[in-house]
Formats: sequence, C-alpha cells, structure tokens
Amino acid sequence: METASHDILIIGAGPGGYVAAIRAAQLGLNVACVEQEDLLGGTCLRVGCIPSKALLESSEHYATVKDGLKEHGLVIGDVSLDLGALMKRKDRIVKLLTGGIDGLFKKNKIRRYRGTARFAAPNRVLVEGADSVEITAKHTIIATGSVPASLPGIQYGDRIGTSTEALAYPEVPKHLVVIGAGAIGLELGSVWARLGSKVTVVEYLDRILPGMDTGIATIAQRLLKRQGLTFRLSSKVLAARPEGDGCIIEIEGADPIPCDRVLVAVGRAANTQGLGLDAAGIATDAKGRIPVDEHFRTSVAGVYAIGDVIGGAMLAHKAHEEGIACVEGIATGHGHVNYGVIPNVCYIDPEVASVGRTEDELKAAGVAYKMGAFPFKANGRALALGQTDGEVKVLADATTDRILGVHIIGPRAGDLIAEAAAAMEFAASAEDLARTCHAHPTLPEVLKEAALAALGRAIHA
Ligand code: NAI
Repeated sequence: METASHDILIIGAGPGGYVAAIRAAQLGLNVACVEQEDLLGGTCLRVGCIPSKALLESSEHYATVKDGLKEHGLVIGDVSLDLGALMKRKDRIVKLLTGGIDGLFKKNKIRRYRGTARFAAPNRVLVEGADSVEITAKHTIIATGSVPASLPGIQYGDRIGTSTEALAYPEVPKHLVVIGAGAIGLELGSVWARLGSKVTVVEYLDRILPGMDTGIATIAQRLLKRQGLTFRLSSKVLAARPEGDGCIIEIEGADPIPCDRVLVAVGRAANTQGLGLDAAGIATDAKGRIPVDEHFRTSVAGVYAIGDVIGGAMLAHKAHEEGIACVEGIATGHGHVNYGVIPNVCYIDPEVASVGRTEDELKAAGVAYKMGAFPFKANGRALALGQTDGEVKVLADATTDRILGVHIIGPRAGDLIAEAAAAMEFAASAEDLARTCHAHPTLPEVLKEAALAALGRAIHA
C-alpha cells in the first residue's frame, strides 16, 4: 500500500467537503480529499438538491403547458411526456456540475483519492478502492454526510425505495405513496403528481413541513391539495411491503393503502458506518452523529467534522459554511457560522422559504415581536406572472425593530429569501428593509411591503 501525507485530509466530497477543500487550498494548505463515488459533489449534486430541481423544473413546465397557459390566451394542442428525455436532461445537469467540481479540484491542486476511507488511528486513514493508500494528515475533516433514515417494517425493494430511486422511476407511477411530509417528500411528490401520478402523502405529525412557520405550512398544504396531492396527517406508518405487482402500506388505526410505488422520506441519518471511528476513538452521540465544539473539533485532537454528519439542519449551504469556517479556523484561528441566519427552502409550487425564527419559536422563547404580512396577489409583477398565491411575513423585535425572521410562500420564494438573509446578516431593522428602494414592478416589493406592514404602514394593503 502506498503512503502519502497532507496538511489536511477531507473525507467526503459533498457540499461540506468539496467547499472545505477549495477554501483550504486557497489558504495555501496541501489538501487531499477522499471520495468513494466516481462523481464529486455528494448527495446534493448526484442524488439530491440538483437532480430534484431539474425534475421540478421540467415537471412544472409540463404542468404549465398542459393546464396553465389558457389564462394567458394560449391554447395548446395535445401535450405528451417523454420521460426518458426529461431524465436525460437531469443526468446532463448532474454530469455538468459534478464535472465542474473535478475542474475546481484540478485548478486548486487538490489531490483526489478514489476509494473508501477508514481511520486506522487519529491521524492515519486507509483508503481502499481504485486508490489504495495510507494517508497521514495533520488535520482530518469528516464530511461524510447523511443517508436516508428508515423505519422498522419497511421492506425495501424494486417498488419501495428512497429519494435516490424516486429521482429515476422508469415510468410514471399510477399511485405513489410518500411517507413523510418534509422537503424531500413534498418536492418529489410534486414532481410525480405533475407528471400524472396519484400521490398520497402519509405524515406522522398533524402538519406538513415540520420546522417551517405553521401558517405558511398550512397555506402550502392547501395549495398542494389543489394540485391533486392527498394528505393523510396524524398517520403513523407501521409497515410497507410488496404485494402482487404493487405494494401495501400499513397505517396505525386505519385501513392499509395499496399503491404501486413507495417513497420513504422520513429524514436522514449521519453517515459514519465503516469509517472506523472507534479505531480513532472519535465519539458519537445516541443518533450516531459526531459531536463537535464551536471550531468543529471532535473528541480527538486533529479530527474535525462538518455538515450533515454533525447534525443540525441537513442543508447543503449549512455544510458549505461549516466547511469554510472549519478550515479558516485551522489555518487562521478564526472561523464562524451564523446559525441564526441559515435560509431554508422547499421547492414546491409555490416555493416556501424561511430564515430566522418562526412565530412559534418566538412565542416559546417569550420574545415580544411584531408581524407584518403582505400577499403576492397585491403585487403587479406576481399578477403579470399569473402567480399570485402566497405571502411574505416579516417578524421584528417589538422594541428594537430588528428583523427576527422572514417567512415566504410564493413565486421564487427561494430567491427572495436571500434579501432577507442579507438584511438579517447586517442586523437590519424592518425600517431598514422598508426604506430600501426596490425596483418596480418586481416580486421583492412584497418583502418591502411586509416590512412596511410590520411598521403599520403598508402602502398597497
Ligand atoms: P424531514 O425530517 O424534513 O421530514 C420527514 C417527515 O417524515 C417528518 O415530517 C416526520 O414527521 C415524518 N415521519 C417520520 N416517521 C414517520 C412515520 N412512521 N409515518 C409517517 N411519517 C413519518 O426529512 P426529509 O424530507 O426526508 O428530508 C431529509 C433532510 O434533507 C431534511 O433535513 C431536509 O431539510 C433536507 N432536505 C432539504 C431540501 C431543501 O432544502 N429543499 C430538499 C430535500 C431534503
């Protein structure tokens, strides 16, 4: 077995790991990254955020062309679906972006090892696979991400699977049951509903989108129902198994649901299996996550962890920030993530986006706040787009007026939330946002009006 040594070794080339590698190289360190998959970019680029967005876009075009253009005075004839072409487009986007990371690694002189990494000792990692090498590093960052969580009673197989399979079904399922009404379930449920599936979402809680603003989630559920999704809330799935040509879902206290495919989307779990954490003495918590301090240091000196594997919000951009803060901390002694300002987006139609604290959280913490809401239906640009569902909610401190949270459901909410995040990063008040000149007619004017509403003086309400 070959041997090698580096300043920093990063295990995993997902959004946490690859960004950490590039930043470390920019800081002049000798960097290596081990990845077991051929493609760089991790779950996000290969089987997560990016392919799902490609499918969401294509399926939205399909739904619009089929039913959404009449109000524009456009009458379309028969519309048919070429699922193969739609999937190929998604695959091309994934190839382009993952290939882009390869290019960035070369440009930044990051040494990539192909294979599976396993700790032999705290500063010694064995790589087995296409490359077979023993690496010694001054600093090792674990960025191995997460894997789909499961439930007892689920018999995975041809027709029962996770988001990975739901990104590539070979045909449009007649009846898809989605277990879990989080971002994965609702995004992929939307894709297949738009392409023609009957979609039933079974959720344990009495609401969808846990963690998002309750009022906004209620609007989202109403709009998704209008798009044909059926919700079975407060329903605990006990089992899912194949039966005949299809499958059966068993729910506590209710009749079983027959269907022809099942997507299990009940969260994700830290991916540490086979990493040899024991050999290095690296601690994990009861859920298998790796506890770290504010500098991302694990229980073992010289070993750090970032991203989904340490818990918190399992979001690509949170992992990006942690990767950068971790290597800046190693190289300069300073690195910081502002966890209060991490946006969260669910790319259903219309999109749901939030940053900062929800009303429920503020109430629970006893924080006095004021709220301003403004609907998209009163915005000229939204009317012109024909996308008037939804609203923006701005929450600000009752005394200081500092913005504490912004919650949006509406067209391009995922893009609009960036302004709210920037404002909060600069500790803006609702007055600051309300006094910022916004181009007219644009969607971000709804944000400005919601800030004005929080001050009791919306113009167009
Ligand atoms: P999630 O944790 O957001 O939602 C899972 C849902 O499954 C929960 O509502 C839970 O109550 C429900 N559930 C659990 N056990 C159940 C049972 N026995 N029967 C019925 N329902 C049950 O997880 P999800 O959607 O799988 O996503 C995983 C992670 O990936 C999340 O952290 C999510 O934020 C992230 N993600 C983010 C995206 C985005 O930013 N757009 C897109 C996709 C995923």
